Amino acid sequence: MKARIGQLMAEVAAAEFSGADEVEEFRVAYLGRKGKMKDLMAAFKEVPGDQKRELGPMLNALKQAVEDKVKAASGETSSSVKASGLDATRPSGGVPLGTHHPLQVVRREIVDIFQNMGFAVAEGPEIEDDWHVFSGLNFPPEHPARDMQDTFFVERNPDVLLRTHTSSVQVREMEKRKPPMRLIMPGRVFRNEAISARAHCMFHQIEGLYIDKDVSFADLKQTLLHFARCFFGPDTKIRLRPSYFPFTEPSAEVDVYWGLKTEVDKRITKGTGWLEILGCGMVDPNVLEANGIDPNVYSGFAFGMGIERISMLRYQIGDLRHFFENDRRFLDQFAGER
Ligand code: DAH
Repeated sequence: MKARIGQLMAEVAAAEFSGADEVEEFRVAYLGRKGKMKDLMAAFKEVPGDQKRELGPMLNALKQAVEDKVKAASGETSSSVKASGLDATRPSGGVPLGTHHPLQVVRREIVDIFQNMGFAVAEGPEIEDDWHVFSGLNFPPEHPARDMQDTFFVERNPDVLLRTHTSSVQVREMEKRKPPMRLIMPGRVFRNEAISARAHCMFHQIEGLYIDKDVSFADLKQTLLHFARCFFGPDTKIRLRPSYFPFTEPSAEVDVYWGLKTEVDKRITKGTGWLEILGCGMVDPNVLEANGIDPNVYSGFAFGMGIERISMLRYQIGDLRHFFENDRRFLDQFAGER
């Protein structure tokens, strides 16, 4: 019997088929009701017990070999696959992967740079009240930013509005924490602007806030210089121009030197070579006081930048609307950006 099993094993291994019919014939010859396995099983019943232990596994192996052979052969010659003319062995075309949105790429990179300097990430709500967006930031009651022209009010209630800047998160965090605090706050903001290549009713900002004892303007400048060099390259130059924001005193706007090498450089820098990238300043003592922080003990700096603006510089994008239209031809250009 051992010899018979060995012989059938060899036959199975050598079997070849030229069509589905032959595979079926083979299957019946071995596994059918009057097949070879049936005969072997009948003979197996008659052998003495001690031989059964050796022969049992051999029979199982033979049966398995037949089944494997049938399975492999029918995979190759499945008649429906053949009839459809489909080549089942052809490699697939691959699954198209999505891409990271350029605003997310830039946001993550900016946040990373500040996290490396010890800033923690904080976020706040997009629907806000007057206190967190304006009053808590030292905006006087008649400030034009409170006007309907700039701010979206919700349900005609002047105390429910969409935040116009991420500076509101500064106020939220000062309520929650005690100094020292070092925070980076990305988020979406809303302004009642007509949509054009340069303006949109919704965009993204990143806010920074650092409050501790003895924080100086020199700390602010060095922090922003470090950021600019990480983001735009190690030789980047910056300059600070005096400016005004209600919540900082003194205030400044920061420009990076973009150069005047090409006609485009001349146009976007208005012939100066310098480009504004953010607003900043020393936190106004009124703001510290309004938020329960003693301005005689603590000082701080804050800054805010627009992610769209910085992305447009980085990728030379000429129209803000591209960011919001989800056109694959635009988005696919950022494949591979992380
Ligand atoms: N909130 C200002 C804006 O939306 C940007 C800004 C300026 C934020 C100066 C700051 C800052 O934190 O110190 O235009």
